[in-house]
Amino acid sequence: MKTTGIVTGIISNLVTIEVDGPVSQNEICFIDLGGTKLMAEVIKVTGKEAFVQVYESTRGLRAGDKAEFYGHMLEVDLGPGILSSIYDGLQNNLKTMEGVFLTRGEYTAALDSEKKWEFTPIAKAGDQVIAADWLGEVKEGWLPHKIMVPFTFEGSYQVKSVAEAGEYTVEETIAVLINEAKEELNVTMKQKWPIKIPILNYKNKPRPFRVMETRVRVIDTFNPIAEGGTGFIPGPFGSGKTVLQHAISKQAEADVIIFAACGERANEVVEIFTEFPKLVDARSGRMLMERTSIICNTSNMPVAAREASVYTAMTIGEYYRSMGLKVLLLADSTSRWAQALREMSNRMEELPGADGFPMDLPAVISGFYARAGIVNLNNGETGSVTFIGTVSPAGGNLKEPVTESTKKVARCFFALSQNRADMKRYPAVDPVDSYSKYLEYPEIIEDLEKKIGKNWVDKIGVGKNIVLRGKEAYEQINILGDDGVPLEYHERFWKSELIDFVILQQDAFDSIDANSPMERQSYMYNLVLDICDKSFEFDGFEECGNFYKKLINILRQMNYTEFESTEFNKYLEQLNNEINNGK
Ligand SMILES: Nc1ncnc2c1ncn2[C@@H]1O[C@H](COP(=O)(O)OP(=O)(O)OP(=O)(O)O)[C@@H](O)[C@H]1O
Ligand SMILES: [Mg+2]
Repeated sequence: MKTTGIVTGIISNLVTIEVDGPVSQNEICFIDLGGTKLMAEVIKVTGKEAFVQVYESTRGLRAGDKAEFYGHMLEVDLGPGILSSIYDGLQNNLKTMEGVFLTRGEYTAALDSEKKWEFTPIAKAGDQVIAADWLGEVKEGWLPHKIMVPFTFEGSYQVKSVAEAGEYTVEETIAVLINEAKEELNVTMKQKWPIKIPILNYKNKPRPFRVMETRVRVIDTFNPIAEGGTGFIPGPFGSGKTVLQHAISKQAEADVIIFAACGERANEVVEIFTEFPKLVDARSGRMLMERTSIICNTSNMPVAAREASVYTAMTIGEYYRSMGLKVLLLADSTSRWAQALREMSNRMEELPGADGFPMDLPAVISGFYARAGIVNLNNGETGSVTFIGTVSPAGGNLKEPVTESTKKVARCFFALSQNRADMKRYPAVDPVDSYSKYLEYPEIIEDLEKKIGKNWVDKIGVGKNIVLRGKEAYEQINILGDDGVPLEYHERFWKSELIDFVILQQDAFDSIDANSPMERQSYMYNLVLDICDKSFEFDGFEECGNFYKKLINILRQMNYTEFESTEFNKYLEQLNNEINNGK
């Protein structure tokens, strides 16, 4: 029998309910508002009182209204059809909606129950299987989508039958399994999983051992991220967080992209609707949306739905990881998610932690980041979820709790600087403050050297040092004047500009410059380091500046030109001429 309850108090979307039976933490309930059912989640229980956060506006809700508890947590539907869809945090399919916003109390099916999928069996009658083992495959777009033994199935099963190759809907039985008690269980292509619980049906989760190419130079060349790794992009308003994430999503070495647009402005969601479907996949030339799923909430949707969206996104990511795919999960912005947590915590009058955020914010953030990773599946394949979140610290203050908590868990730190954004030096990733802790892993270094070049970590050190010394020289020149410093200071400054303009800066809106594979990055960086290694004779700081400006111009034109094309080689020749003349 279902537990029911009566609404006794309402503070915005925090509602207290007096219950007549057991309820559990995170259980889902529906509150009846004159025939409209509002979905809510239990966030605290004391005695007969349950505190629930309602995923919708509670306008018009009254004390005395009835609630019904469903005995399970917030779940998502997993199955073919997730890719190319746009959901909200509760996995309502926003594409099937008129306009972007749902009417209150309206929930839509996440997966199309009528669409037929071309199924090919993998398992056969007699096989012994456990949860997450692959039973068959359908083509989702052009990706192989594995149909698995449901994650909730405990123990081992014998396959009684698997459907023949053919077309099936997600509702039709595609396999019959027999459990240890000899009961028969029907398996369809659709399964459910609670979003706040990690999917752990894999053999083990080693620490990341492979580099993931993003084709963003400041990441791959300077601060590489690992496949199955974690990174975050803190940056003040308008500093380029979203543009950088979009660039990564278009170009990174991933099979599936899951994008959680969490609580940004309403018009930004409209932009995602119109822009994301237009993005072209830099690798295959096909539409990026074919292998993307977007989960979005805006800041005008209730905070609870915002909180759910990042978990929904992660759960979908883990689902595709179980198929042996490389998933790239992006969340923009995790600050909005943390603000949702803060709002709920304040309404519950919990003792606040730093800046009013809940005390357990660091634990919540680290628990979430810990779900990313590369895993060895039971069948020997590997799958991965690489997670990159943005953080928008108020006033650009990197000491605030969300940034600090995230910094402790994310292994890559791509800090966007206001100063660089103001100078339009995009991506505004700060070359000195940013880092990748994966450069401490011997297995990552080995892979990096294989992919981009020998002694790469040393080369990163050399480059960062040039940038740092250039910055110091720049400050000296500013204080003492052009003539007040030795010529050598000018040269130092210009060498750092060379790295800045040619390597660090990258035009996200130019198809050639934006999309810079590692081989090309290696070539360009070596070229620039070679120039930095030389010393030239100048008659004064002006001549020095003019010389380097010329080199920068040529090198930048190379960035905008197809790699190793005739045109590219012509620029290279020009560059060599300038360098020889400079001697
Ligand atoms: N790599 C880039 N190349 C060219 N232009 C860029 C690049 N990155 C950012 N920009 C410029 O900066 C603008 C703001 O970027 P973006 O919207 O990504 O900032 P944001 O940090 O996400 O802002 P908000 O905090 O408001 O979400 C872009 O519209 C674009 O004009
Ligand atoms: Mg943004």
